[in-house]
Amino acid sequence: MKILIVFYSETGNTKLFAEEVKKAVEKKNIVCDMIQIETDVPARNYNPSNQVLNIKNMPDAEGYDYVILGGPVMAFRANYATMKCIKEINGIKGKKFIPFVTQHFPFPFMGGTNAISMMSKEAKKAGAEVLEGSIINIAWHDYKNDMKKKAEEISKSIL
Ligand SMILES: Cc1cc2nc3c(=O)[nH]c(=O)nc-3n(C[C@H](O)[C@H](O)[C@H](O)COP(=O)(O)O)c2cc1C
Repeated sequence: MKILIVFYSETGNTKLFAEEVKKAVEKKNIVCDMIQIETDVPARNYNPSNQVLNIKNMPDAEGYDYVILGGPVMAFRANYATMKCIKEINGIKGKKFIPFVTQHFPFPFMGGTNAISMMSKEAKKAGAEVLEGSIINIAWHDYKNDMKKKAEEISKSIL
């Protein structure tokens, strides 16, 4: 069993959650690699007609059983870097896919749910088997504790 965690992060929230997920997964003695997506320009909300963005280190999911992929919510949508990565990453066909997002606003309906739905649809289009996603809300939350709890939930969902 091998897990790949991929994330895009600008101010560190998503990175913190990705690191918690890695820790939780590794407690089960599962091999887990992690990669932070780097882009030539900062990602913004997904709107392919008005942004040109290149991923400098496109990950490869070949050889992994699960791909856990996330990024920040932007303008109530998934951001451009994570969407582009789901579209273009090699080897996610037939893989189990778990999306995750972090968002500032306190409720998932303020962008998180929509972002997870966009990411899930794109991953399904690419042939992945999509599992339940995870949303971290920062404002009004003990988000560091929520990250630990949700990372454990993700780890438990891995068979
Ligand atoms: C351009 C932009 C748009 C954003 N739009 C939203 C939004 O619609 N809803 C929300 O809850 N947070 C929004 N945020 C806040 C980020 O989603 C939040 O701070 C996230 O945790 C940042 O992740 P990072 O630290 O990994 O970059 C936005 C941030 C940026 C930069």
